[in-house]
Amino acid sequence: MTDGPTEAATKAPDDLVIRGAHVLDPASGLDGVTDVLLSSGHIAEVGENLRGTRHLDADGLHLFPGFVDVHAHWRTPGREDEETIETGSAAAAAGGFTSVVMMPNTDPIVDRPVVVSGLVRRVERESRVRAYVSAALHEGLKGERLTEMRLLKEAGAFCVSDDGLGTQSAGVLRNGMLYAKTAGLPVILHCEDHTLATGVVHDGVAAALAGVPGSPGSAEDVATATALVLAAETGAKVHITHVSTALSAALVGFFKGRGDITADTTPHHLTLTDELVGMLEGMYRVNPPLRPDGDRLEVGKALKGGILDFVATDHAPHASEEKELPLEEAAPGFLGHETAFPALYTELVKSGKLPLSRLVEAMACAPGRWVASGAYGIFAGAPADLALVDLSEEWTVRTGALASRSSNSPYLGRRLGGRVVGTMVGGELVYDGMGAKFGART
Ligand code: DOR
Repeated sequence: MTDGPTEAATKAPDDLVIRGAHVLDPASGLDGVTDVLLSSGHIAEVGENLRGTRHLDADGLHLFPGFVDVHAHWRTPGREDEETIETGSAAAAAGGFTSVVMMPNTDPIVDRPVVVSGLVRRVERESRVRAYVSAALHEGLKGERLTEMRLLKEAGAFCVSDDGLGTQSAGVLRNGMLYAKTAGLPVILHCEDHTLATGVVHDGVAAALAGVPGSPGSAEDVATATALVLAAETGAKVHITHVSTALSAALVGFFKGRGDITADTTPHHLTLTDELVGMLEGMYRVNPPLRPDGDRLEVGKALKGGILDFVATDHAPHASEEKELPLEEAAPGFLGHETAFPALYTELVKSGKLPLSRLVEAMACAPGRWVASGAYGIFAGAPADLALVDLSEEWTVRTGALASRSSNSPYLGRRLGGRVVGTMVGGELVYDGMGAKFGART
């Protein structure tokens, strides 16, 4: 599904009132039980006792703006055994996500216009949610030759990124930012310096005890500092993804307002630590690596205070034969879409560390504004992109319960609170976890 409201509108059913949900949208100042009328794929009205052709009773549920994930690997083209646009978007929808940005480290890499336009066409046919294509910043993600960004944009690219590897030369990165700016493309940056990131986990006590080679936090911090200096100088629209250290978060804070700079962190860096390295399981390998609790806490504070603008999952499916290996041999990355809200709700909101409204802001409103370059939320005229959530429900993360084609979730076996029960894109129910029964006009 593309971002075209026209397409969404043609697919939308007749008007529908979502009745009795607790509507929470910090951007619109909504926080209470009210009705929401949807019409032609858009929100028509928010208020009391609304009437429509059909209604959906949502008593006891929360209604949020649809979550937006600017960082996902749907492995298409090339590794459809791990994820497809159909299964990736099904996982996104099951997690309450209505918009997703797909990363370009596929096979072939998304560094030519023909690959971009092919993906855009497949998204239109196969995706349940709005999906945006990130093209590569450099050919082959090698950090050497810039891609033809103007042509990539014409072919439908939404942004550029060398995610998975990161750009190693500051001079090359600076040129990339300047070119992306003239092409009108945002740049998403994975910050890791490969001369320092030589290990497979965080270089700390847990790595030493486990006897596994580590990469220091400076591997991320040095690259983040370089990226921020260049972003401030060039004025390019730069988004630093998966911030995982206290120092990188502080650096983002210093540079905020000195350029067009935003940053995210992930659910796993907010809820898990490098203690898991002691399990010696390839499951817990991820880039950037899980950090000590001190970093996790500081990154959480930066998210709470808005220094880190939002959450992105880095949804990274991997085949079991690439994950069920010793740490040194395993592929890095975790599934993210389906556990993002429940993990953060359970670990941060229920424990009183983060207000629910800030979590909704960080998963929906803020990334939604970044993608839309404008207002995003629950207000008359906005696309009806919505997530219905049952905060009272608990569920156990199990392979069979996940829509993703892969099962490399670091939360497998955990009991989480908060379950997404319905996701709408352009007014269309793209995930139904409640057996929705639409009542007729009463
Ligand atoms: O752990 C990761 N896995 N980090 C990345 O940046 C890339 C991702 C992948 O593509 O598997």
